[in-house]
Amino acid sequence: MSQEQVEVIAIDGPTASGKGTIAGIVAQRLGYHYLDSGALYRLAALTCLDRQVDLLDEAACAKAASDIEPIFRDGRIELFGRDVTEAIRAEIVGITASKIATLPSVRQALFDLQRRAKKAPGLVADGRDMASVVFPDARLKVFLTASAESRAERRYRQLIQKGISANLTSLTEDLAERDRRDRERKTAPLVPMPDSRILDSSNLTIEETVETVLSWWREVNQ
Ligand code: CDP
Repeated sequence: MSQEQVEVIAIDGPTASGKGTIAGIVAQRLGYHYLDSGALYRLAALTCLDRQVDLLDEAACAKAASDIEPIFRDGRIELFGRDVTEAIRAEIVGITASKIATLPSVRQALFDLQRRAKKAPGLVADGRDMASVVFPDARLKVFLTASAESRAERRYRQLIQKGISANLTSLTEDLAERDRRDRERKTAPLVPMPDSRILDSSNLTIEETVETVLSWWREVNQ
């Protein structure tokens, strides 16, 4: 199978919409590879933080992004010989990722790494610009949303479960700020494509959301 023939399901959406969970399960059910593109932005952000890079210095941020060679193994992520699986989930890393993601040369630096994830038998890719920029050829494009309240609550529960203290009010403000940055940036803004299918998961369980994506997948393959 040539790389062009490999099937891609793109799942884009705002912060804390549940993309990662849904994309991971869909990939598992289909026996496909899974690309968490947000993790790459987080790895680049962690590298910027470790190097104490000035986030307004685009060249230095892009250098940090192009230096990463992460190893994904058994659900763990290793970067420069260190296990950073938990470290990249910290809120400060998410906020920094959202800031450097507005820089075109950072996005460019991560482009090939993302394209290389397209491998047989198929790929489920989650992010903000999977359908618009990285895999415009995806056979199925899903735009996964949820109301701001349910996303803030989900993120809150996620953090508390991990033993990280969180405050719902500041989380809600933080998510709104990240949404604004994702939607308003000039390069690869978060928008559904004309051929994206919109899925609002506010009142759906994980299983119902997964089932909807899988039923759309069966439909496009008929
Ligand atoms: O956890 P959360 O949904 O907030 O974000 P994530 O998917 O882990 O991605 C971290 C940040 O990277 C996001 O806030 C986005 O600004 C950025 N990102 C992006 O710009 N493009 C992507 N394809 C993936 C993430």
